[in-house]
Amino acid sequence: MNTAKMQLAPKTTVAASHAVAAAEQFGTPLYVYDETCIVRHCRNVMDMPNAFGLAPRYAMKANSSRAILQLVASQGLGIDASSLNEARRAIAAGIAPERIMLTTQEVPMAQNRTDLEEMMRGGLRYNVCSRRQLELIADFAASEDIAISMRIHPGVGSGESATRNTGDKYSCFGVHLSILEDVLAYAGQKGVKCTGVHVHIGSGGDPEAWRANIDCELEFVENFFPDATHVSFGGGFKVARMPGEKAADIEELGCYAKKRFEEFYARTGRKLAMEVEPGTYIVANAGFLVTRVLDLKSTGRDGFEFVIVDGGMEVNTRPLLYGSSHPFYVVSATGSLLSSEFDPMLEETAAGERIIVGRCCESGDSQSLDEHGHIVPRFLAAPAVGDYVIVGGCGAYCSAMSPFNYNSHIQVPEVLLREGGSLQLIRRPQLIDQIWQNELGL
Ligand SMILES: Cc1ncc(COP(=O)(O)O)c(C=O)c1O
Repeated sequence: MNTAKMQLAPKTTVAASHAVAAAEQFGTPLYVYDETCIVRHCRNVMDMPNAFGLAPRYAMKANSSRAILQLVASQGLGIDASSLNEARRAIAAGIAPERIMLTTQEVPMAQNRTDLEEMMRGGLRYNVCSRRQLELIADFAASEDIAISMRIHPGVGSGESATRNTGDKYSCFGVHLSILEDVLAYAGQKGVKCTGVHVHIGSGGDPEAWRANIDCELEFVENFFPDATHVSFGGGFKVARMPGEKAADIEELGCYAKKRFEEFYARTGRKLAMEVEPGTYIVANAGFLVTRVLDLKSTGRDGFEFVIVDGGMEVNTRPLLYGSSHPFYVVSATGSLLSSEFDPMLEETAAGERIIVGRCCESGDSQSLDEHGHIVPRFLAAPAVGDYVIVGGCGAYCSAMSPFNYNSHIQVPEVLLREGGSLQLIRRPQLIDQIWQNELGL
């Protein structure tokens, strides 16, 4: 069967042949992103049902490559930045400050503070996340008549793993509900207006918890925020990376929120605009990590069959960090799809349990680990040295979060499969001497 043109996963236009063409042109490892898929996800978010207006922002931490920011912004989304440098990066990509909201744990001081003020004058929305942040910005905001937004810690969250839950007592994001009245009293004394209210309960969590947060957030908006015009529910839409996983239904979540906003209006006479800030949803399943098989090893009859590829934890840290699962595709050096976890019919007779590991000097450098760090073998076709192992679901928190210079590996290229079918390099590979260019010898 000639499977060279076959798409790697449902709902992607990336085929094994694209991945191999990109690998041949730009080398491995590399990331390939699917423009068609990113655009579709942006449109889905822009089309979410809403009552009195919707302003989606893309959480750029998921993937902050310039072309991706530009692509997402061209679809009408604003930007959610989590550091001043992210805001600077978005502005450098041509995105106006008025389309950016900054939600950060940083307390901008010195030059950062000056730059923040400049951005706020240009329209950037500052989402105050602590009393100290408010204290430091209050006089400036009041004197310039700039309204702020406030991130609230609701005390309840949900995430793909414990470390991705940002709403429970083990995380410290936002102004905790227990001190909210005090903090708002301070804002009132200073003459600071708070027109935005924001909660992000976590990433990839239970959609039921996301719905519950809508109710909870609207309740404290009603009780404490008389000036609020915008309510953000954050990001965190669960996506299905693996076959059989169930994604959040964002249309259904939009319908739920719409109903609640309408009820809020009926009760209070206030029309609130809805905001969401997905990162994962926009890019996760649009990205593929293309690696090449370097070696094959076995740890004996009671052990495992290992496939050593040229990109592991330094290009996709999520399995090691969160115990996340990503789908694998085995592709021959000539571009035939040999196995796909989305298509069991493709399994070759030589399929068996294997472990995909990278080339870093870490026993946890595997692309398949559980949440306790134990390696989990997977059922795959037997690749030969020189074949490819492609890892799906790698558009979010892979390139952007990678410890890429570990073991002195270089930051790898990123390629966009354009809607027309061409492959465009959007980030060059790092040059070896860029690794040490800032070091000073004795
Ligand atoms: C404040 C905030 N908003 C949005 C997001 C995006 O979350 P996700 O990528 O799960 O959509 C994050 C991620 O951690 C976040 O911290």
